[in-house]
Order: sequence, then structure tokens, then C-alpha cells
Amino acid sequence: MIITIDGPTASGKSTVAALIAKKLGFYHLNTGFLYRSLAYLLVTTRGYSESTLENVKQEDIAECVRPDFFSYTYDVQKDVCVSYRGTEITRFLKDSSVDRYVVIISPQKLVREAMVEQQRALAKKYNLVIDGRDVGSLVFPQANFKFYLTASLPIRAARWQKDQLARGNLFTLEEAQELISDRDVKDMSRKISPLAVAEGGIEIDNSQLTLDGTVQTFLSYVMTPCC
Ligand code: C5P
Repeated sequence: MIITIDGPTASGKSTVAALIAKKLGFYHLNTGFLYRSLAYLLVTTRGYSESTLENVKQEDIAECVRPDFFSYTYDVQKDVCVSYRGTEITRFLKDSSVDRYVVIISPQKLVREAMVEQQRALAKKYNLVIDGRDVGSLVFPQANFKFYLTASLPIRAARWQKDQLARGNLFTLEEAQELISDRDVKDMSRKISPLAVAEGGIEIDNSQLTLDGTVQTFLSYVMTPCC
């Protein structure tokens, strides 16, 4: 079974996906981490900078996602763990520098092809809860449940600000709103697989919901017998 959750920045999709995966005993695939890993590795291992990331080469992508170097694993206790050449890189992936790098590479055709291939390969092995921007609309249009999770911009900005604070980064609410709305615009307006509600997708706005309430709303769809 495949459950997809797409949505804009800081809508809570990864947190909700992790909790639903745990509840159902499914594998959690956080595709944001795949894109973030690639952006991070291109800069740290292939010598890219913010300006050269505009045009990423096929051979560099291939080197970063080499199955003998790159590993994405999920386990119910630790959730997602990403490593490269045996070194864990998960803790770097949410850095604000990576936020900037990832939106430069994510519109690129070669990048998206490599990322989609990885996602589809994992889906052959597991029951999945997968979150991202195009996972219901493009990667798994045949998914059993396709959700789109969103919340108002001020609420998402406040969540993102809190998240950053926990990582030791101080942003004002205005800065948070500006940064995440800029990322939303880029993700929604790119030519290849822009963020959008999948055909037949279920839209959930969790602006007024607690985390538990959001999870229960998702589960009310997934656990209801269809016929
Ligand atoms: O979900 P997260 O905020 O970690 O994603 C980081 C970025 O990766 C997004 O802003 C987007 O540019 C890119 N992304 C994407 N497609 C996905 C997942 C993430 O383009 N399926």
C-alpha cells in the first residue's frame, strides 16, 4: 500500500507521515530528505556553490546517489537516517543553507529523474507513507491514498520559526514568512512537477488542528473500509 502526503513548507507533512508510518507499521520515505541530501552532497563532496548549483551535471548526481555510497534507511525508533560513505549526514539536512541549495536543484530535470527513480525503487520493497511535493501527483498517481496537507502562511511560519529556534537559529516571524513563502512560490511555479493537489487528492488544512488531531484526521480516511 502507498499513502502519499504532499504539501507546502512547514505544513507538518513529515511529522505526520512519521507518526502514521509508525501507527501502521509502514516505511516512512521523506522525499524532502532525498532532495536535501543531494543538494548537501553536491556542495560538500562535488565542489558546487550556490551559483554553480544552477546547472548540475549528470555524473555528479550519479556519484552522490551511488548505491554503495548513499544510504537512506528508516526504522521505527529513529525514523529516517541518511548516510554517505558510512558517515551519517541526517543532522545537516535541515540547515538553512540546505534550504537555499535545495530549491536551486529541485526544478532540474536530471535531479528529479534521479530522485523519482530512487522513490519508485523503494516502493517495490515496502508499504510506504511518503511525503513530498509531487509524490501523489507524479511519482505515485496510483497510490491508495493521496493527501495534500496545508495550513495558513502565518501558522506555517510560526512552526518553522519554532523548529529553527530548536536548532539554535533565530528568525523573526516576518523573516520566516518571507523565507517559506519564497520557497512555496518556487515549488509551485516550477515547470517540472510543481507542487499541486494530486488528482483525486484529499486536502487537509491543519491550521486549527493539533498534531494529534491531524493524525486522527488522516487515519479516519485510511482506516475506514472502502466498501
Ligand atoms: O519537504 P522539505 O521542505 O524537506 O523539502 C525541501 C525541498 O525539496 C522543497 O522545498 C522542494 O524544493 C524539494 N522537494 C521537491 N520534491 C519533493 C520533495 C522535496 O521538489 N518530492
